[in-house]
Amino acid sequence: MSQGAPRVLISASVLNADFSRLDRVVHKLERAGVDRLHLDVMDGHFVDNLSFGPDIVAAFRRLTELPLDVHLMISEPARHVDRFIAAQPQTITFHVEAPQTEVQKDQAIAAIHAAGVGAGLAISPGTPVQAVADRVDRLDVIMVMTVVPGWGGQGFMPDMAPKIAEARRLLSAAGRGGLVHVDGGINHRTAEIVGRQGIDVCIVGSALFQRGRDASEEVDLVRESAQRGRLAVETDTPSAQGAGARRSSRRASASA
Ligand code: DX5
Ligand code: ZN
Repeated sequence: MSQGAPRVLISASVLNADFSRLDRVVHKLERAGVDRLHLDVMDGHFVDNLSFGPDIVAAFRRLTELPLDVHLMISEPARHVDRFIAAQPQTITFHVEAPQTEVQKDQAIAAIHAAGVGAGLAISPGTPVQAVADRVDRLDVIMVMTVVPGWGGQGFMPDMAPKIAEARRLLSAAGRGGLVHVDGGINHRTAEIVGRQGIDVCIVGSALFQRGRDASEEVDLVRESAQRGRLAVETDTPSAQGAGARRSSRRASASA
């Protein structure tokens, strides 16, 4: 990694974990060296799948001191956000595509911030990054989805990767220290691709819960691959265009 470039963070998605022993899951992830936990909330409406709600987020809060990132894949974030705030996560991210009014979306972000929690917007594969541009001065997270939201264990969509660099540029220009998270299909093979786009936080789910594979090894490999990708762009060739500017603004911003 080049001097001054921030470390790529690893956020573990627990969707594919064994929910009968959450304490074991959390301790395994802590031992594996993850930086944060990513908690996927699904309502069976915004996405087909159902997962869990605020009580489980609160249970994770009691089990660990790791920062918690709540990813709301629900149709009415403004209606439910207070219950997730009460569980004291580090960030709450909801989808810009949620079928709520613009006023409701603004209210949800304001409520999150009023509680001292970071606010984020997630972008599904069919949505351009520009959809979050008018709120970027209020965002602590832009989450770029590299799978269709709803299920763990899907394949990474490489066509989505350039959105990461676009989101990174928006956040750097806004100057409030927001981070770009990438969600879906990240493992030690795909991490270099997102590293080349300047990713800050790699969300890793199923790759950490494969039988016979060591989670700490995967955490290290994902981080190393992402950082190798970032370094390659920073020191490289024609594709380094703009990387210097990104690097200097990121140095000032990415510290969460
Ligand atoms: C998908 C979820 C993801 C997912 C990540 O809708 O938002 O967080 O669980 O899992 P993998 O890494 O298996 O794609
Ligand atoms: Zn997620």
